[in-house]
Amino acid sequence: MASLDIGIDLGTCTVIATDSTQSVVVREPSVVAVDSRTDKVIEIGSRVYDMIGRTPNYIHVIRPLNEGVISNFAMTEVLIRHMLKKITGAQMLKPRVTLCVPSDTTNVESQSVINAAVSAGARKVYLIEEPVAAAIGAGLDLSKPEGHLIVDIGGGTCDIAVLSLNGIVTKSSIKTAGRLFDEAIIRFVRNKYNLLIGERTAERIKIEVGSVYEGSPEAVTEVKGRDLMTGLPKKIALRRSETLEVLREPMDVILRAVIGVLERTPPELAADIRSNGILLTGGGSRLTGLIQVLEQTTKVPARIAENPEECVAVGTAKSFDYLDKLYDGFVHTSTHIH
Ligand SMILES: Nc1ncnc2c1ncn2[C@@H]1O[C@H](COP(=O)(O)OP(=O)(O)OP(=O)(O)O)[C@@H](O)[C@H]1O
Ligand SMILES: [Mg+2]
Repeated sequence: MASLDIGIDLGTCTVIATDSTQSVVVREPSVVAVDSRTDKVIEIGSRVYDMIGRTPNYIHVIRPLNEGVISNFAMTEVLIRHMLKKITGAQMLKPRVTLCVPSDTTNVESQSVINAAVSAGARKVYLIEEPVAAAIGAGLDLSKPEGHLIVDIGGGTCDIAVLSLNGIVTKSSIKTAGRLFDEAIIRFVRNKYNLLIGERTAERIKIEVGSVYEGSPEAVTEVKGRDLMTGLPKKIALRRSETLEVLREPMDVILRAVIGVLERTPPELAADIRSNGILLTGGGSRLTGLIQVLEQTTKVPARIAENPEECVAVGTAKSFDYLDKLYDGFVHTSTHIH
């Protein structure tokens, strides 16, 4: 039987699957829509994303991986099954699968994810930690005794890790990431303008004009929402400079966590990191001004990986080449079925 290797990044915002060619083959928002009258899954992924904030109240949009933990196990299984089915299609091949799960996943949950992948058709399942997958996906050579600092800022978690010799030396995982920046914008617009906006609008504002760095050039965007006083639709103009203070709060939490990891890093590796720089992955690292404030605060040069959202997924597929070598990065390996 020909073999098939698949890597899946079970992200809070996006699930991405890659195959042995290490290119992205399926990408879906991590959302599932359920009809609460029948408990039936009615849509998965991108078609659900377009429904967010626009559904009748009996349709529930579920994010199975909320805030970087598996908050709805049954729906996580639905997502895994959906991804595997899309790749393997009608083929009878049972793939080996490497999954990247949120860092705070417990052993029991890990085992459940493995079982879900097995029941969805996987022959053998490996779990890998997010910063290790991110580093491999970004093309770092982890086999040398040389320190690298990876900061992966996703939607639900920010993972910070120092890696050397195929393992994790120091790490920290916090729940301050992209979606908390969106929530900060929602609160700000409500408090300052009495305007209620949804999460998709907040994310658009963050991407278009949000910044954490005072030196970013001014920009403006139009924001539509519901006036809390009149209940009627209203629009305002929002400037980049207004977002600085709002976004600075979650940004400072991330900066403190990075400093914390640097402080716990052995001196030899800290010196490597100073010359290698910080490598940023994850969509959240694209936030305007983030590199500048990170460099200012840590005094270490930083760069964003190419296609930062895809590094973890590419790393999950590439990790099959390293199966014997990686130790700390694999939290769990399992499971044959025949
Ligand atoms: N240009 C941008 N500026 C700021 N944020 C961005 C930009 N592009 C994407 N993002 C944010 O990146 C986040 C998604 O990143 P990513 O796809 O890496 O997350 P994930 O892997 O699904 O989540 P996690 O790793 O936390 O489970 C979202 O919060 C999104 O708003
Ligand atoms: Mg991620």
